[in-house]
Order: sequence, then C-alpha cells, then structure tokens
Amino acid sequence: MSVSSGRKFSLLPMLGHTKGKRSPVTCALKCDNACSGEVCNTSSNSYFRDIASATMSRRAALGFGAAGALAVAFGSAIISPESAVADGGPGLSAAAKNGYGASKLKFTAIAPVDAAVDAFTVPEGFTWQPVIRWGDPIFNDAPDFDLDNQTAAAQARQFGYNNDYTDILEIPGSKGRRAVLFTNHEYTNETIMFPAAMPAADVRAIGAAAHGLTVVELERKNKNKPWTYVKGAGLNRRYLNTTPYELTGPVAGSALVRTKADPTGRTILGTLGNCSGGTTPWGTILSGEENFNGYFVSPGTSAGDKRYGLTSKPTARQWELDDPRFDTRNPGYENETNRFGWIVEVDPFDPTSTPKKHSAMGRFKHEGANVIVAESGHVVAYMGDDERFDYLYKFVSAGTYIEGDRKHNMTLLSEGDLYVAKFAGNSPAAQITGTGAVPADGGFDGTGEWLPLVVGGVSQVPGMPSVEEVLVYTRLAADKVGPTKMDRCEDVQPSLHTGKVYVACTNNSDRGKTGKEGATEVNPRNNNRDGHIVEITETGDQTATAFTWNLLMVCGDPSTGDVTYFSGFPADQVSPISCPDNLAFDSVGNLWISTDGAPSGIGKADGLFKVTLDGAERGRVEQFLAVPRDAETCGPIIHDEERTVFVAVQHPGEDGSFEAQLSLFPDYVPAGSTPAAGQVRAPRPSVVQVFRTDA
Ligand code: FEO
Ligand code: CA
Ligand code: CA
Repeated sequence: MSVSSGRKFSLLPMLGHTKGKRSPVTCALKCDNACSGEVCNTSSNSYFRDIASATMSRRAALGFGAAGALAVAFGSAIISPESAVADGGPGLSAAAKNGYGASKLKFTAIAPVDAAVDAFTVPEGFTWQPVIRWGDPIFNDAPDFDLDNQTAAAQARQFGYNNDYTDILEIPGSKGRRAVLFTNHEYTNETIMFPAAMPAADVRAIGAAAHGLTVVELERKNKNKPWTYVKGAGLNRRYLNTTPYELTGPVAGSALVRTKADPTGRTILGTLGNCSGGTTPWGTILSGEENFNGYFVSPGTSAGDKRYGLTSKPTARQWELDDPRFDTRNPGYENETNRFGWIVEVDPFDPTSTPKKHSAMGRFKHEGANVIVAESGHVVAYMGDDERFDYLYKFVSAGTYIEGDRKHNMTLLSEGDLYVAKFAGNSPAAQITGTGAVPADGGFDGTGEWLPLVVGGVSQVPGMPSVEEVLVYTRLAADKVGPTKMDRCEDVQPSLHTGKVYVACTNNSDRGKTGKEGATEVNPRNNNRDGHIVEITETGDQTATAFTWNLLMVCGDPSTGDVTYFSGFPADQVSPISCPDNLAFDSVGNLWISTDGAPSGIGKADGLFKVTLDGAERGRVEQFLAVPRDAETCGPIIHDEERTVFVAVQHPGEDGSFEAQLSLFPDYVPAGSTPAAGQVRAPRPSVVQVFRTDA
C-alpha cells in the first residue's frame, strides 16, 4: 500500500498479532498494538511479595464500614452541580446512609449472546433506542449525516466516533426534563467509516474531526420518557484537536512541555485517546488520555519514549503528514508527546470554558479517574494505567472540598500528592498456582500501601528530585519505588456506599510467560485471559497510605471449566463474564461492570453486568445487556430509580469494511429499503438508553 491510500498503509502489516484478545483491527487502531509489542514496563522493580502476617486494617478492626468517606452524592443518580453540592456535607451520601437496598431496576438476566450476533440485546420487559449516534448534527448549522458525502467541516459540527466515557448531569431548574450528556471519542476506524476510494487527505481530516469530546443537551417530556438530544442547544459543544486546553499544576510552563507552537508550555491543542473518565462532586467531567502514543511518530530511543510505547514507525492515521507536531523528530516539537497522557477536566455547563489537563495527577496511559471526598475534605482520585504490568495510582488534593464553592472545587485537582500502589498477599506463594484456584485461607487477600511519588510538592522518588520529571515521566518514576505490576487496570471506582474501591483488571495474557512476572495473589492467574476485580479497603480516611484488599471475582465462564471465583457465590448461578472494563454503581450500592474483549475470552458478546456486593448474594453476576457484533460496552450510567440504563456502544462492526459492513447497528436499515431520514446503512457508535417497555 502506498501512503496515498492512507489508512491501510500502516494497519495491515500489524494485523494478526492480537494474541486472541480482541479484533486485530481494534488492537491496531485503539492502542497501537500495545499487546503485540514488547511490554513497556521492563523495570525490575520489587515484584509483589507475599507476606503471611497481614495486618488487619484499623477500620476493619474497629468495625468501620463506610465511615472513611464523605461520599458526596453523585454518580448513580442524575446530578447537577448544585444538587451534587447540596447533597454533600459531612458524612455519607443520603443513599449511603441507608446502606445497601433493593433496586427498583428489576430484571431477569439475559442469556449470553453469541459474539457473531449483530443485535443489541436487553432483558424481557425492556427496550432500547440510541440517544445520539456518530454523525448526528449537534449545531443548527450542522448538516444531517450523509454517509456518502462526508466532510471534515460537517464532522466537526456532528457527534464524533467511538464514544467511551459518558455521563448525564441534570440542568438546574429543569425539573428533570433537561440534562447535559458528556461523551468522549476514543479513536476512529477509517476502514469502515469511509469508502476505500476516498482521498487519503480527506480520510485524515474527517477522522481527526471525529476525535475529541462532545457535550450535548438532552430533553424529555417527563421523567418516565426516554431522553433525546437537542440540536442547537446552548450548552452543545464539540472539543476538537484545535481546542486549547490549559495545563495546570507543577508541569505548567515547564521546559519539558514547551514547543515551537507553545513556548509558554501552558496551552495544549486537543485531547487524544480518551478512554474512560469520571464525574466530580462539583459537576465537572474527567477524561483519561490513554493510548496517545499511537498518534505520534517519535525517535523511540529515549527511556521516556520506550516506557510510553512511542516509536518511529508511521502512525495508523498519518496525521504527521499534515501537522508537524505529530512527528516529534521535527525541530521544535520534541516535547509534543509530553503534552498528552493526562487527566482532562471539562465543565459541561459552560461552553465557553477552557478545559484543563491536570499535571499533578501524573502522566501515563490514563484509563480514567474517579473521585471521592475524604472525611478530611481532601479530594481523592483513583486512577489506573491500562497497560500490561503497569500500575494503580491515587491522587490526594492539597486543598479541601468546600460545599457550594464550585469555582474553588474546580482548582482541587491542580495541586496534590501522588501515590502508586503496592500489594502484598497473605497466603503462601506456593498456594498461588497461576490457575486462579483459591488459596487455602479461602480468599485472595492481603495488605497494601500507597507508595509516595510526590508529597507536598516535593518528589519522593530516589534519584529523581524534579517534581516536573516525576509527573511527566510518571511510569519511570514509579518504577523506582517498586509498586505492584498489575493486569491492566481499567476503571478504578470508589463506592459511595462503603468507601471501598473497585479495580477492574481487564486481562493480561502475558502474565507468567517466559521472562515475565508470574501469578501473584492480587493477579492470581497466568495467561490471564478473562481478568479479575480487586476490592480495596483504605485503612482509615480515604487519604490513608495503607489498605487491605481482596479479590471480588476472578472472571471467566464456569460452564466451560474456567477456574473462576465469585466471592463464594455458586459459579453455576452467575452470568459468564470476561474482560471487565468500566465500572458504575447504582443508587443502592450494586456494582455494574461493562466488558471489552469477552468474544475472544469466553466467546460471547460483550455486555453489561450487575454484581451484588453484600449479603448472601455477594458475587452474584447477572447480565443486563449485550452489545452488537465486534462492539465493546462502555460508559455505563445506571439510573435505577428511573429503571433505565445508558451505555456507549463502541466500535460495532470493527472487523468489516465500508464496502462490506459486519454491523448495521443502530439503524438496522433493512436490505433493499431506502434509509429513513437521518439513518444510514453502516455501523454507528452510539450512546444508547435502555428503558422499560411500559415507560
Ligand atoms: Fe481504552 Fe483501557 O481501555
Ligand atoms: Ca489469602
Ligand atoms: Ca476502557
């Protein structure tokens, strides 16, 4: 293939190297074949060590369940900035004070769906419809989506591609009838988006315009009716590669982030590789810049380049042909990659606001960030670095949350302490067999500590005295303090009911391979195809530097003989689950898990699952929905009080081509018929609402 045929030039040679986890196309486009390349973490930091004398947490010893968190109410219910703040205050959220409870969202689990089925499957008594689809016009001057006549100008005014993190926040004073929907757009699949004959320059320009973020207003007739988006609404906004972001915190202005185009090192254009995210108690949205490396050509020779997977090969999308900053070998642009890999904060209620990138939260392949307010008022964010054998992080704000002072609260993530997690198991190493079999004490569990990287604005990393370096090269800094190498931390989410923190370790097929770390109690399976969930209990306030932990589940399909663990719940009574990715809670404390990669794990379509966390049914997994062919399930929002659920359907029909599509989700235009207005005969990543048929 020649360069002029654009998208296929650098993709096809990489196909077939996915190690059976997900579609080769997804691997190439989403994470630049991270799993087929060398593991970025070649450090010999002190691996997980089993410690037989686990110390019981002070909180556990005192019988504390949930008292460590101030737990401002947000997340499971529809919130607005005002309501989020008003429901806060010392103590637990109103919902949490009631403990776990019965959900209004009752359903009978669906049967697992075959991975080849191109359908969106919901439980009996429920139906679904898209809230917004790739190409839907956002602004009054935006044209309707025209699949066969796409332009970059149109795409910049329409909903972007491959939605991942989503949340819905109520607009104050709207009596529940108006809200804003935030969605990010992780990456594009040009092969199914555009005809093969499209000029490569157009492919690059339209693809670029389909990245970024979207905020769009929603409306509904009343609380029982489904949401629809409002074209031309006042809060609607697309964030593009040309949108300026303010870099905050210790790295702002640093020589490490200055470029020819931004000699001040404070203003960054665009956000890339946005994966999951989080919603703050003050009504802003966080989004994680994850596989940013796939957008840059770099020398690929420095320790920093190697640790972040930056190489000198042409990128999949070849934006380097249009903009010199995407090739950091160009003079003046050497630092451009240091300007990506951050947590982004967006105010969806102010379309004129400047979004931020928070350097104090460290730079790595951020899956997302989820925030809880500690009893002390400090804001704590939990963050995963989604790469094989990379780490789990925690940020503690220097300032404290002030109820009702949104302007102040929006500064909290700009300054604080950064930690990385080290786990110790309490069972003898010989009992961690690598199969996932539970050790003799009946649980995968132990203690842990948060190892300091930056405290009080001072580096805690031996041999790395510069805070700016610790925050720009956070992976290299962490390597020096000996954290635990994890099986790809995706969402890390604190429960506002208990303060416990849940970590989705999605998979790691390299664990136990020659030369690689083998099974440990917290990552207990070699060739970890299906992933697991870690449950962390902080020792005291959420800002504590010590914790206890246990595994909530070791995923898989028990019916096929997979070794699994569901906290003691009978394995023959769970929905099979593989590759946990995004996490959410409902209003009564149940955990919901969306998956990415199940087809190559348990051989079934990805989906959304409810997990009971308390009582006799703790560990019970019930599948709520399944997504169409080749898609992953992202961005779950559980509004159980309204008996409705939202998910972002990402990369449906990923393995097809424009001329031979494999999915027609969500329009499903029948063969031989003319598409209705606004519909097309191609897969469209979409945010979907699932609701009762009697709604
Ligand atoms: Fe974009 Fe970590 O999944
Ligand atoms: Ca144990
Ligand atoms: Ca993800």
